[in-house]
Amino acid sequence: MEKLEEQIQILDFPDLGDERGNLVVVEGGQAIPFDIKRIFYIYGSDTEVVRGSHANLRSEFVMINVSGTSKVKVDNGHEQRILELNRPRMGLYLKSMVWKEMYDFSPDSVLLVLSNEHYDPNEYIRDYKTYLEMVGK
Ligand code: TYD
Repeated sequence: MEKLEEQIQILDFPDLGDERGNLVVVEGGQAIPFDIKRIFYIYGSDTEVVRGSHANLRSEFVMINVSGTSKVKVDNGHEQRILELNRPRMGLYLKSMVWKEMYDFSPDSVLLVLSNEHYDPNEYIRDYKTYLEMVGK
């Protein structure tokens, strides 16, 4: 069984900014551990909303709060951890088969998500009980 700490990673992107302002670059295969096939972003979610609540058979993700803050609860069926995304230079890398919930969105939260896969609803596991069975819990 893989340890949660091996299934997630906090990425710290360099700031290439200067007196004109900040600049953060994330390139697939470099700062991002995969080739990027998909980008989506979540904003306008109220504080009490919980998004996500799924795991993916193949998709990996890097989540970046490019504005505002949110929290992500990650869970591999055995261990859980809560991370706060609170700066544009921070990325949260999630390998496949990690259950995730995003919540506590600040009003200005823009949560940018990069993935190594195109969207395929068939590789989403949306039932937690099924997920636990799949990870042998
Ligand atoms: P959903 O997976 O519920 O979003 P979240 O993970 O943020 O809770 O997706 C909401 C809707 O958007 C659902 O109908 C599927 C669709 N969708 C796509 O078509 N492509 C995508 O890449 C994503 C993430 C969602």
